[in-house]
Amino acid sequence: MNNIDLINKRRIFGIISHPDAGKTTLTEKLLLHGGAIREAGTVRARKNSKFAKSDWMEIEKQRGISVTSSVMQFEYNDKVISIMDTPGHNDFGEDTYRILTSVDSAVMVIDAAKGIEAQTKKLFQVCSMRGIPIFTFINKLDREAKDPLESMQELEDVLGLPSVAVTWPIGCGKEFEGIYDRLKNTVYLFKKKEQIYLGEEKVQSSKLDGVLSQSNLENLRYAMELLDGAGNEFDLELIKQGKLSPVFFGSALADFGVTEFLEHFLQISPPPSKRKTTTGYVEPTDEEFTGFIFKIQANMDPNHRDRLAFLRICSGTFVRGMNVTLSRTGKQMKLSQSTHLMANERETVDTAYAGDVIGIYDSGNFQIGDTLTNSKEKVFFEPLPTFPPELFCRVSAKNSLKGKNFQKGVEQLAQEGAIQVYKNEYNEVVLGAVGVLQFEVFEYRLVNEYNTDIRMESIDFSVARWVKTDDPESLKKYQNSRCMLVYDHYERPVLLFTNAYALKSFQERNEDIILVEALDVI
Ligand code: G4P
Repeated sequence: MNNIDLINKRRIFGIISHPDAGKTTLTEKLLLHGGAIREAGTVRARKNSKFAKSDWMEIEKQRGISVTSSVMQFEYNDKVISIMDTPGHNDFGEDTYRILTSVDSAVMVIDAAKGIEAQTKKLFQVCSMRGIPIFTFINKLDREAKDPLESMQELEDVLGLPSVAVTWPIGCGKEFEGIYDRLKNTVYLFKKKEQIYLGEEKVQSSKLDGVLSQSNLENLRYAMELLDGAGNEFDLELIKQGKLSPVFFGSALADFGVTEFLEHFLQISPPPSKRKTTTGYVEPTDEEFTGFIFKIQANMDPNHRDRLAFLRICSGTFVRGMNVTLSRTGKQMKLSQSTHLMANERETVDTAYAGDVIGIYDSGNFQIGDTLTNSKEKVFFEPLPTFPPELFCRVSAKNSLKGKNFQKGVEQLAQEGAIQVYKNEYNEVVLGAVGVLQFEVFEYRLVNEYNTDIRMESIDFSVARWVKTDDPESLKKYQNSRCMLVYDHYERPVLLFTNAYALKSFQERNEDIILVEALDVI
């Protein structure tokens, strides 16, 4: 098989959802269909961290949530599919956002009764910023649910995302009788596990009389008349641009509507495409190998202080043992230790292609956003975005003799992108995070990996703004109880404000100061 075929077979997607919407259950069903796992409960066990191996993942066990993310690969209908697992808890971190920079599409799982919840909205915004296609799976139809027309309207009203129904539920809860596939003109029955092809007559077909309850049939015919007449048309181009979301209904728990979703998804979702660099684009079919690191996970094995870098391959073929250059430093290195990232099973990867994600063991060379290539020319992928932190705390080593360990830990965790690190004018370390769990993981890792007890004091700021100025010193005069000046990892000045109101009043008083929400990682 040539490289083009191998690339076109590949799909990378992430699942975004609010906790409890059914992401784990859906992932599990997809993996079962792909034969990647044999038993239901495998992913759930991982979610409950029964399988967590490394020590610091204790924190996952204690909290019963998934702090880290990995990649699950499976094959289905001749496609090689990678699901990027994103932590779904409220206390998620920047990691969750960053994972979404490596995917080619996203699946948004929504609880049919609850509709769009806070976390889904945040994650949706990250996908939408990047213009990636978003597929919607409305889950738990086996329970009481909102009117499906209302759910579709909500996508438009709350997210500003136009949608087109590909499948449609026939009833819900106790009255749930199945789904109708609008592209295949076929009804799939829930309890009877049968399918009825309706042909050109679609839902008007008499084949449905007596099969569905009268009220479900009437509702189905009414909804289809409405959608056929006034709904959005199925427009592949708009879907690929992330401007129209194909919507599917089902029950992940009952494994109903999942196969229909998966098969359409594989047809519609895009294979790996070109990726922007600082000087142009890299095509997946380019011969030279290129890839970028979007996640670094430390201490996979507590006996060795190793780190695993997650590399998204963008072009060329990865062959274990190949020589590459780390673009940021120009350093040459041999990639001899590479691994699949399937849940907790690690298996050496010898060959991989554009559209694959592999793990590379790292002894401290890599940073988030690094480009690796075997091209003679220098290639830099566009920097990964940083996400504005909303929580801050001041941190120091309890024992000043541990200062060196403390500095080293802070430095490495910042490099991993586990937390954002700032310094104030007294050279004190200020941490910034998007979720409180990031602080807990930070503390846990400093104690356990760097043998340093720390003092953490949360500070009452919630908004960070980078300042474009040639004279950072001049910003000191603005400091007061509602505004603090700090410097980021790259020595760039950042003003922290207590709240949006403090920011607004600062801007009104200082119109000439340009404040920006986030500067890209350099
Ligand atoms: P998450 O990863 O998005 O957080 O959600 P998860 O899959 O863990 O699902 C959350 C709860 O919702 C689970 O119940 C799960 O069984 C249930 N669930 C998922 N999909 C469906 C569905 O299609 N229909 C129904 N009725 N329930 C569904 P739990 O009681 O919290 O866990 P468990 O005891 O079932 O393990």
